[in-house]
Amino acid sequence: MNQALQLPLLQSREVTLIIKREDQLHPLMSGNKFRKLKYNLEAARLKKAHTLLTFGGAYSNHILATAAAAAEHGFKSTGIIRGEELNNRVDENPTLSKAQSLGMKFIFVSRERYRELTRDEKKAKHLCAQDGIYMIPEGGSNALAVKGVAEMLTEEDFAADYICCSVGTGATLAGLVEAARPQQRVLGFAALDHHDLAAEVGRFTKKSTYEIIHDYTFGGYAKITDPLVQCMNQWLKQTGVLFDPVYTAKMMFGILDRVRCGAIPKGSVILAIHTGGLQGIEGMNSRLEKKNAPLILTSCSKKAS
Ligand SMILES: Cc1ncc(COP(=O)(O)O)c(C=O)c1O
Repeated sequence: MNQALQLPLLQSREVTLIIKREDQLHPLMSGNKFRKLKYNLEAARLKKAHTLLTFGGAYSNHILATAAAAAEHGFKSTGIIRGEELNNRVDENPTLSKAQSLGMKFIFVSRERYRELTRDEKKAKHLCAQDGIYMIPEGGSNALAVKGVAEMLTEEDFAADYICCSVGTGATLAGLVEAARPQQRVLGFAALDHHDLAAEVGRFTKKSTYEIIHDYTFGGYAKITDPLVQCMNQWLKQTGVLFDPVYTAKMMFGILDRVRCGAIPKGSVILAIHTGGLQGIEGMNSRLEKKNAPLILTSCSKKAS
């Protein structure tokens, strides 16, 4: 579903901002996760795999999505989790405890070991010491994921001047670049301070009709500030759309800032992909609560203009 946002800034700049509500595709495999997993699940089935093996951090959207996909499609699942310290703290972590309740088994590893295993998937497979494992890379990002993401765009989307998404591993951006029309500009808003993101995207697409914007990382991956939380709460009140703090809120902030400063010209039509990730709000709020910081609102009955 595409939803046009009504915000005073957009009206004053005569910019149309349409949100593609990929977050509504599936309650646990939301947004880009659903798209990234689609062809990987098909490949796992063709290979007669019995277990999906993947990687992720403590609050990973991809870990939960893979656990849900496995449960729904008749696979077992194993997650290699970054951070040995999480081993005895699964109950305190909403993402991991939901994944566990869907049947996922965990292998907790140190950050160094995690880096080593994500770079060498054979080593990771050996940890499971059995056949029938289908390996899905970190973030679910591989060529099959890019193929799935490219299916996000439909005929009505080709009228937009800009297509925007958040960038983690770069596979989502690459899928959109592959699917977009030549005259469309794809803007990727980095969610982490990683200056080689273009090289990551370049692994998945040879086209160059995109730009990666590094100005709205808010200090790095999964970092958040009080003003960003305030913006998220205000957008929710004004539009009824809830964004996630790690990816889509930073993209949204970046889009509005670019509109405000005129980098996105008057009269433009922007299509922004809501890639989901809302499951991460609970974990983020419990961290914010410990710091006595403002919390992210998750529901709001009032819809202001
Ligand atoms: C909600 C959400 N949005 C955007 C992204 C970024 O996608 P990619 O890793 O394909 O760049 C992710 C991470 O995969 C995500 O979980």
